[in-house]
Amino acid sequence: MLSISVKEFLFWKKKQLSKGGDYQSFAVLLECLGGITTSDQNLMRINPQGNIYLKKNLDYLGSIWDNHLLESRPIQYLCGVTFWRDLKLKVTNKVLIPRPETELIVDIVFNIFEKRSQKLFFAELGTGSGAISIALALAYPLSDVIATDIDPGALEIATNNFKNSSNQTNLKFYCGNWWTPFESFKGKIDLAISNPPYIPRDIYERLPKEVKEFEPKIALLGGEDGLKHIKEIIQKAPLFLKEKGWLILENHFDQGEKIKKLLIKSKFKSVEIVNDLSGIGRFTIGRYK
Ligand SMILES: C[S@@+](CC[C@H](N)C(=O)[O-])C[C@H]1O[C@@H](n2cnc3c(N)ncnc32)[C@H](O)[C@@H]1O
Repeated sequence: MLSISVKEFLFWKKKQLSKGGDYQSFAVLLECLGGITTSDQNLMRINPQGNIYLKKNLDYLGSIWDNHLLESRPIQYLCGVTFWRDLKLKVTNKVLIPRPETELIVDIVFNIFEKRSQKLFFAELGTGSGAISIALALAYPLSDVIATDIDPGALEIATNNFKNSSNQTNLKFYCGNWWTPFESFKGKIDLAISNPPYIPRDIYERLPKEVKEFEPKIALLGGEDGLKHIKEIIQKAPLFLKEKGWLILENHFDQGEKIKKLLIKSKFKSVEIVNDLSGIGRFTIGRYK
């Protein structure tokens, strides 16, 4: 640990931010590599005469920030970690960086199954870094969670993230196409959840450089209209869900109504579009029969 004065730190911080970039990414750099949390920064305002302790020196942190600004490479990939809900997760370019708006998907589950001491059976399709499944496995310790991904590289990261988050053993990962690895769990799932690739091709082509060039295409592109994977997931869901089992999908900002229709066509009830914190219809949920 390196000790420097708050004054020196604040001067350096102002200089870095004046080069560009957003405050949120800078906070990730400070927390992940520098060991300076947001609450540490609040304390600095109260005690500007004090000293702080850094895990890496300012030159090193500044060089990572320059790299981020120069190449548009996401700061989370440069730091190798991200924060999501109360989890600290390893991320590489094999996995999508879990987004803050996706955090709400776990709260939707909390609203459906309020009692955390229940024994339930959850499934996640397309787990990436494992964020959603790990949050569910930890929040419902008596329940079992199974999660798939098509990419073995992503599953390696997810498995590591689960091991680093707890000693629990109630989450298992499977490699394969959507429901395929779950053959032996037909009719057993209380709730299935997915944040699948849902970006339509024309929008994908115009994504900002920091997303299109660095995050995995397989995690983003949802075919021509963005609904390719969502259709497949909905179509096969009735085979795997228990009677009255739930399906929760994250979708693109304008897909909610279309997905609602697809769910109703597949005989789902209680179909509803749930807004994210910005008021966007980000999730579509339904209950099978
Ligand atoms: C949008 S990312 C979501 C990752 C993570 N669940 C999250 O919310 O941050 C979609 C994930 O689906 C996976 N995926 C893409 N096609 C798939 C398929 N055919 N079967 C299973 N998983 C797939 C990708 O590898 C990626 O990890």
